[in-house]
This record gives sequence, C-alpha cells and structure tokens, in this order.
Amino acid sequence: MTSSGLQPELFENANAALEQALDYPKFRYMGSKHKLLPWIYNNLSDLKFDTVLDGFSGSGAVSYLFKAMGKKVISNDFLNFPAIITKATCENSDTTLDEKDVDHILKNNPGKDNFIKQTFEGIFFTKEDLEFLDLAYWNISKLNNEYKKALALTCLFRSCLKKQPRGVFTVSGDLSNYNDGRRDLKISLKTHFLEQIKIFNSLVFSNGKNHFSVSGDIFEININEKIDLVYFDPPYVPNSDDNCYTKRYHFLEGLSKYWKDEEILYDTKVKKIKKKYTPFSYRSQAIEAFDNLFYKFKNSIIVLSYSDNGFPDLEIIQEILSKYKSEINVIKKPHRYHFGNHAAVKRSEVEEYLIIGK
Ligand SMILES: C[S@@+](CC[C@H](N)C(=O)[O-])C[C@H]1O[C@@H](n2cnc3c(N)ncnc32)[C@H](O)[C@@H]1O
Repeated sequence: MTSSGLQPELFENANAALEQALDYPKFRYMGSKHKLLPWIYNNLSDLKFDTVLDGFSGSGAVSYLFKAMGKKVISNDFLNFPAIITKATCENSDTTLDEKDVDHILKNNPGKDNFIKQTFEGIFFTKEDLEFLDLAYWNISKLNNEYKKALALTCLFRSCLKKQPRGVFTVSGDLSNYNDGRRDLKISLKTHFLEQIKIFNSLVFSNGKNHFSVSGDIFEININEKIDLVYFDPPYVPNSDDNCYTKRYHFLEGLSKYWKDEEILYDTKVKKIKKKYTPFSYRSQAIEAFDNLFYKFKNSIIVLSYSDNGFPDLEIIQEILSKYKSEINVIKKPHRYHFGNHAAVKRSEVEEYLIIGK
C-alpha cells in the first residue's frame, strides 16, 4: 500500500490518468476547470461510478479527465462548438488527421464560400486569416468522417482563440493595447492550425468505452441510459454582460456551423449572434433552475462545481440539494480564475466548492 492508501498498481494508474488529463490543451475558456483537474480528480476518484454526464462541458477539460479515469462519458453543452470539441477529444477513440487530410483541408478551392472574409474583415484577424478560415471550413465540410471533421474544427477553434487578444470575441478594431508581442498574436491562423493538429491528434485514445457528445439545453436533453454520476459546472449569474458565453465566443459558435441558422446582429460592432437563453444567468430564475436541475438528475450522484461568488449562496444550494440527496459533502479550495493574459486582465479570487450529493 502507498501513503494514499492505494495499492501500488492502482496508484500508478491514478497518476497516469491525471497526467493524461493534464495534457489537455488550455482553451482559456471562461470558468474552465483545467487548473482544478487534480483537485476534482482527487475528490471524485473514490466514488463508485462507471457512467458520467458532464452537463455543461465548455472546453471539454473535465470530460477528458473522466475519460482518462476510464469512465463512459456523455458530454453536453447548449453551445454547438463545445460539443464539437468533446466529439473530437472524448467521443472519438481512434481517428486522427493524417497528411492526406491536411493536404485536402489546405488545397485551394475556387468554389469555396467567402462569407467569413466578407463579414469579419476589419473586425477580427487579417484578410489572409479570414480567407484561410473560409477555405478550411469549406474543405473540412467535405471530409467524409465525422471525427475528422470534429478534430479539424476543434483545431480551428483553438487557433482562433490563441490568435484573438484575450481569447474573447468582444473586442475588435485597433488592438494595439492588447498586443504584448506574443508569438500567438503574430503567426498566421494557418500556422496555428498546423500546430494544433499535432496537439489534438496526440490526445486521441480509447479507454474501451463508447462515449457520446450532445448539444442541448440541460433541461431538454434526454439520455436513455442510467447515469451513475452527473457533473455540473453551470454559468453564474453575471455581474456584467461580458460574462455571457455567446457574447464572448459568438465567432466560434458561428464558425462551428458556418453561421447556418444563426441570427447575426449586423448592427453590432463585432457581428455577434443572438444570445442563447439560460436560466442560470438570471438572479430571478437561478434558484428555480438549480431545483429543476437537481430534480431532473436526482437518481444520479450529483456533483456541482460552484464558488462563493455564485448566486444563490452555498447555504441555499445545499438546502435545494438536500430535497433530493440525504448525504451532502462540500469540499472547498481557494482558487484564482484568470481571464485572458493581458497585463490589465481581470483576476478573480474565489473560494471554489465541489458539492457532492449522494
Ligand atoms: C462554466 S462553463 C463550463 C466550463 C467547463 N467545465 C470547463 O472546464 O471548460 C459553463 C458552460 O455551460 C454552458 N451552458 C449554459 N447554460 C446551459 C444550459 N442551460 N444547458 C447546457 N449548457 C449550458 C455554457 O455554454 C458554458 O460552456
């Protein structure tokens, strides 16, 4: 036995799972739990569960942790691009992009659409970058394998996030204030994309289980199988509109489907798409939303990531959860969320909670 109480071979497996999870790329996604993966891992690894739902998957970091832990993972987010990311990194067990695929994605195609260049020139990226996105999307859409498509789109998303100052699409125009000379801001999206392919190819693995990704409102998705544990990391009631996921990531959401069926708000400076409704964003609806959420998944172990700057407060969350769960355990940890990496970025120090209801 080791000092952790695990048998040596289990201890090795445990370390390997965590190490693998930590290889997951950082998306600088708002509220991402990447930095908290070891803490989440340590607090969930003793629980007995085989099937898990990551209900608000965002960057996919926690879904990937569960996959590395050997679980069967169902990932969901009401935005489309996070579901593509988990399709590529979690649901996908064996498909990578080879040289032929890359040649196909990069090959010139005079028949391609020019929507991205026409719509976003002067707003985001360079003209060449936008032409590259039009071309790459067009060619990716012609790939005949859904995992190759998801993997290639995921590489485009991360390329865009890395090159966009602060990794959010709320800012445009003269961005010299944000330009700290970083290589990420200088190299072309095409160069980024080629680098990302190597990174995401290397993440693909099988843990022997069949995973799947869905994109829907958590209150509307129906999963026709028993889920042992649900992990929830919903958004918080925002202090400012800047906290809205659609507002920050509208460009990636649009790109994930080439803006098909999205309502573009042409009178906005950055050509946003219409905000998606979620009850977790409203002070007047959040309490009822948590109650409905816990009720819907009352037959599974419920794990909630939360913090002391959320509304409602911990006491009320515990009260709601105790309607459905007899044993509640709250684990606390000081944590600093880091949005963007400019000198003047907003940093927020919180007490992070992992609330487990059994
Ligand atoms: C705090 S983030 C999750 C971060 C994620 N755990 C990570 O580590 O990257 C919250 C996510 O919830 C999603 N979301 C918001 N309301 C939702 C709803 N009603 N149903 C499903 N997903 C929702 C947002 O799109 C966002 O990606």
